[in-house]
Amino acid sequence: MPILSTQKLVKSFGGVHAVDHVDLAFHGGKITALVGPNGSGKTTFINTVTGILPMDGGEIHVGGVVMRRMNPADVAAYGITRTFQNARLIQQISVLDNILVVLTERNVWGALFERHTALHLEKAGNILKKVGLWEKRNENAENLSYGQRKLLEIARAVSMRANIYLFDEPFAGLFPETIEVISDILRTLRDKAASVVLVEHNMNLVRELADYCYVLDGGKVIAEGTPDYVLKQPQVIEAYLGK
Ligand SMILES: Nc1ncnc2c1ncn2[C@@H]1O[C@H](COP(=O)(O)OP(=O)(O)O)[C@@H](O)[C@H]1O
Ligand SMILES: [Mg+2]
Repeated sequence: MPILSTQKLVKSFGGVHAVDHVDLAFHGGKITALVGPNGSGKTTFINTVTGILPMDGGEIHVGGVVMRRMNPADVAAYGITRTFQNARLIQQISVLDNILVVLTERNVWGALFERHTALHLEKAGNILKKVGLWEKRNENAENLSYGQRKLLEIARAVSMRANIYLFDEPFAGLFPETIEVISDILRTLRDKAASVVLVEHNMNLVRELADYCYVLDGGKVIAEGTPDYVLKQPQVIEAYLGK
């Protein structure tokens, strides 16, 4: 049984059917890629599943629960976490505090002014070392480079300890060393039985990482299967060449 699935999920903007009756299923212990040309509805799908945008139709199934609306405040409780195409960090606090806020499930004030247990500091340290940001722990998030911001956002997502992780273009614009660090993190999450959803344009990375792949075009699923299978399908080649 999938950890998360959608049935006939719909999200429209005026006349634009950004997500058009989409059935996707995400299993534990798998990396599932979501690919498709620009504007095909990948980000809107993630925004709808995480309740940032209200859904216009269909169902979201999480565990055994069937939902016709997803309250963004409940998303974490359902074990879902995500990253954004443009990293969203708390700019004015340090790299370390950005992680502690998540680990201690507190607000910014709590994270800044309460004493942290040694355990939280150790966990935050381990995560920051894993993504190579330990040396930057005392910098304000706003002073990080583009690549460091993306790494910190991923570190925050991983700190949430979810069952399903939705990564929207985590590799875009990064150097190969950073891509390798993030790839390892995705594989580790999969090996711990999480369900990893990866929106990605680089087909070599999709082939390398994904167990299963959905292709969206115009808000509809036009192919699904292993990456090698879907990337050979004429309608997929057509969708990319047509743009
Ligand atoms: N907030 C919005 N308001 C109006 N239209 C939107 C909005 N977000 C996305 N769209 C439209 O929905 C479609 C899908 O966009 P998006 O989900 O961002 O695609 P992708 O992430 O695959 O590039 C596009 O036609 C886009 O212009
Ligand atoms: Mg997008």
